[in-house]
Amino acid sequence: MPERTRPGCTVALVGPEDYRALCPRLGVLLADAVRSGAGVNFVLPFDEADGEAYWRGLDEEVTAGRRLVLVAREGGGDGPQAVVGTVTLVPATMPNQAHRADVAKLLVHRDHRRRGVATLLMRAVAGLARSRDRTLLTLDCVADGPEEAFYRGIGFTVAGRIPGYARSPSGVLEGATFLYRHLDAPAPAG
Ligand SMILES: CC(C)(COP(=O)(O)OP(=O)(O)OC[C@H]1O[C@@H](n2cnc3c(N)ncnc32)[C@H](O)[C@@H]1OP(=O)(O)O)[C@@H](O)C(=O)NCCC(=O)NCCS
Repeated sequence: MPERTRPGCTVALVGPEDYRALCPRLGVLLADAVRSGAGVNFVLPFDEADGEAYWRGLDEEVTAGRRLVLVAREGGGDGPQAVVGTVTLVPATMPNQAHRADVAKLLVHRDHRRRGVATLLMRAVAGLARSRDRTLLTLDCVADGPEEAFYRGIGFTVAGRIPGYARSPSGVLEGATFLYRHLDAPAPAG
């Protein structure tokens, strides 16, 4: 995959050989997101070790290419500490959905938000999907929150909402919005 860049930020696909070394840092990003109140499948208490364990549990899927993990680095470094964001592409496995992939675990560390990192990650994940002949992206997020605004802003369409779908990190039931984007449709301006 060609790397996606903007000044100061680079996005790249993580090779299976590098994945394990990145798990502790990915755990930091996940714990930060849970503490920030984000709906990313976990409830408090949740710390960096819990986050690392989550990512380590996916090692086999990453190695097999069933999950494609992208990371964004800022500041020019190439070590784990330079990783400030991540997103995962999960190609659908059923034969009748060979054109579809889920987008999961889009996370940008709080210290690096509102600088376009997630936008760059989502452009890269769309490029990666296209390169694997996946032309339909699907995902879900907390309904009516900033994440939904983000995805709508980059061209995703709302398919529908389910009330009371999942608990927030503090245990409150929240609705979920399901969104999709056809990559063969014209991209939004900007
Ligand atoms: C959602 C998230 C990934 C956005 O990352 P980011 O790098 O800050 O996003 P960008 O800088 O690319 O934002 C692009 C645009 O999306 C919208 N947006 C992003 N975050 C927003 C927020 N908190 N509130 C309102 N709009 C927001 C804005 O229009 C923004 O453009 P602007 O900064 O010029 O106004 C980040 O807040 C995050 O990691 N949240 C916790 C994890 C999470 O909820 N992930 C989604 C799981 S489905």
